[in-house]
Amino acid sequence: MARYAYVNGRYVDHRQASVHIEDRGYQLADGVYEVVGVRDGKLIDETPHLDRLDRSLKELRIAAPVSRKTLGFIIRELMRRNRLRDGLVYMQVTRGVARRDHAFPTAPVKPALVLTTKNTKHLVADVGPGIAIKSQPDIRWERCDIKTVALLPNVLAKQAARESGAYEAWLIDSVGCITEGASTNAWIVTKEGELVTRQTDNGILAGITRGTLKSIADTLQLKLVERPFSLAEAKQAREAFITSATSFVTPVVKIDGDPVGDGKPGPTARRLREEYVRFSEAGEAVV
Ligand code: PDD
Repeated sequence: MARYAYVNGRYVDHRQASVHIEDRGYQLADGVYEVVGVRDGKLIDETPHLDRLDRSLKELRIAAPVSRKTLGFIIRELMRRNRLRDGLVYMQVTRGVARRDHAFPTAPVKPALVLTTKNTKHLVADVGPGIAIKSQPDIRWERCDIKTVALLPNVLAKQAARESGAYEAWLIDSVGCITEGASTNAWIVTKEGELVTRQTDNGILAGITRGTLKSIADTLQLKLVERPFSLAEAKQAREAFITSATSFVTPVVKIDGDPVGDGKPGPTARRLREEYVRFSEAGEAVV
């Protein structure tokens, strides 16, 4: 079956899909993106993801390439063509194609819109054995609240983690606190049973999965505190886990080689994952 990508108004063979070499996303990382999970043919949290895309665009003064309604149509059409039932939709908007100059183009430029889908069925199925984390210094800029394609510090941190045998990196700020993962939000469950995740501001991305999990935790009457937490505290925690559109809720069983709790996925993370999967199965099927 041919796999399609959407590139600036056309559905094209994924293998042939390309953008111009002077696209500002390619040359200057002048663009933003979103990743929306798809479970059983349903988009997970479509509205908050598209709201965040709008916000990222506004913060960088990039015009929306198409209306919200049209974008919704494009997403569904690509899912339909690619028969996507479990996986994710990737969408990217850049400032467009212009002669290279750091400053914004002075002549009007059309922002460029690209969408792809990915089948990740295997990720969804089970909680799995849990993952290992490696801590890395957070060397990113001060607008981590914007979901830009400028991901080099995240790429380097993730690579360092992978080379050490860990799956994800947790980024450590100048005072020893964990901001978030290279591509996920970070959570712990303290010895007292409190759920802790860092507060949202310009230091982290306000994860959509994080937001949904806050509501789930509330429904389950779990005590949630949004505050900074240190690497030392995380290592002493009863449980730890990560959240994102691609990992859902995934338990952390090791940090820098030390086991978290008893070194196995904990009950809170398991329960939250179950509830999140249930939440993701609700809603209207697209494919
Ligand atoms: N990453 N923090 C960072 C730095 C991220 O890149 C992501 C998402 C998250 C979690 O956000 P959400 O719950 O909205 O997925 C937190 C996506 C999945 C990616 O880059 O592939």
